[in-house]
Amino acid sequence: MASTQLVPVGELSKGEIRKVEIDGRHLLLVNGEKGPALIDRVCPHLGGDLAKGKVVAHRIRCSTHSYVFDLKTGSCPLAEREGFEPLAVYELHESEGYLCVELAD
Ligand code: FES
Repeated sequence: MASTQLVPVGELSKGEIRKVEIDGRHLLLVNGEKGPALIDRVCPHLGGDLAKGKVVAHRIRCSTHSYVFDLKTGSCPLAEREGFEPLAVYELHESEGYLCVELAD
């Protein structure tokens, strides 16, 4: 499992949503109020594009049905009731001045 450099630490502005593609996987770097998070681009509710979403505090609101997902845990208050999975959130680390991620194959 190799580490992938994403962006220099501190490069993202507050509330920024940046598209990232790693080995064909479409992800988003999102800078919430508690710092950057790496998430799946596809909304786990009904497949909306979270790149069109809006950052609110440390959550992202999907533009399709306005469901809100926590950027740390991926949880959504309606996920359990409606039977869909939380949003996938990937752990970031810093190395040599860059935000990095290690994704499983
Ligand atoms: S598709 Fe994202 S909230 Fe429904």
